[in-house]
Amino acid sequence: MLEHPTTKPRDGFQWKIDEMVARVDDAKANETYYYQQAVRELDGAWVLTEEGRKLMFATYSYLGLLGHPDINRAAQEAIERYGTGTHGVRLLGGTLDIHLELEKTIARFHGREDAIVFSSGYVTNLATISTIVGKGDWVISDKWNHASIVDGCVLARGHFVRFRHNDMKDLERRLQQAPEDAGKLVVADAVFSMDGDIFPLPEAVELCRKYNARLMIDEAHSLGVLGATGHGIEEHFGMPGVIDVKMGTLSKTIPGVGGYITADQELITFLKHAARAFIFSAALPPPVAAACKAGFEVIEREGVERNRILSRNVEHFIQGLQARGFDTGVSVTPIVPIMTYDEEKAFLMTKYCQDNGVFVLPVVPPAVPHGKSRLRANVTAAHTIEDIGFALDVFEAAGKFAGVI
Ligand SMILES: Cc1ncc(COP(=O)(O)O)c(C=O)c1O
Repeated sequence: MLEHPTTKPRDGFQWKIDEMVARVDDAKANETYYYQQAVRELDGAWVLTEEGRKLMFATYSYLGLLGHPDINRAAQEAIERYGTGTHGVRLLGGTLDIHLELEKTIARFHGREDAIVFSSGYVTNLATISTIVGKGDWVISDKWNHASIVDGCVLARGHFVRFRHNDMKDLERRLQQAPEDAGKLVVADAVFSMDGDIFPLPEAVELCRKYNARLMIDEAHSLGVLGATGHGIEEHFGMPGVIDVKMGTLSKTIPGVGGYITADQELITFLKHAARAFIFSAALPPPVAAACKAGFEVIEREGVERNRILSRNVEHFIQGLQARGFDTGVSVTPIVPIMTYDEEKAFLMTKYCQDNGVFVLPVVPPAVPHGKSRLRANVTAAHTIEDIGFALDVFEAAGKFAGVI
């Protein structure tokens, strides 16, 4: 008879598991572990956790649409009509009329011919880049791009190179290195997710045209945020229709889950029949698809006013932090890094904020380079001026407590 081992078997994987577990245990022992903290209830910009009521600064709900009555109602009606799941993958029995309506709504919103929806934003980048970029092709990616773009480039079978962040001279150098007849995909975030700065679209478009490259832009943090009506980076620069492959998520400004590509009809047809994550993975649940469609419709109706409040809040928040002596890096958007540089100080500052009613989280290596630790505070249209005033006071006290200012 086989005996059960009394200790866990050691193998070549165990060291990295031990290392991570020790890091997590350490943070928990020091009471500085705030990841995966459960929210019990929402109340506008405030949330209820086990430790009490806190003002949320770790949300991507930039226009404050989470809990919007029209969006909630759309989800409830979809459950009544279709149930909670689908019959499987989109290509076979999983497509509902609500999926097609969502794709039409997205395409119309962005002024494109068609759209394809995937089960997450992460999967959208992974699937799209690895499907478009094959052997002999080049993918040229900004160094600060989101992990899902990087992973898509790694998965792609083509040649993967990076250019220095927002550096158009370096992008041109990379474009010159690629063979003239190779497929070339340049890919970048519209708003960079750790630093809150904006990609220089006009210069990139010019270079892509010069070198016959396609441009893919990830609008995860610019949908609802950039442009006076919240339509994204093309509206911000007054350049409608210049992006070849426009990617977005349904989990940030749009309060659901999923991701999409919107583009010309041909590219969408190609992706719908070649992207493995579309072909071999189940369709979005009906309440999510319905909520996302309603989300775009709410932006069309209320985007201008909500965007005006968001812009006011961004300005007020960044100026308030800078006046108190914080370094907010290069941010000009609702993603506001509060630089601590030191990892320990980021955890200390977080603890002070969390203990004093502000829900904010640290971003530390490997998510950012060593020596670039920070708190990432996202301000939204749901915050009032009084909310921001309260948060600024807490951040100031936390910064002094941790020795950041
Ligand atoms: C720029 C960017 N792209 C893609 C994603 C992935 O989106 P999702 O969380 O919807 O999977 C994120 C997530 O934070 C992101 O910041």
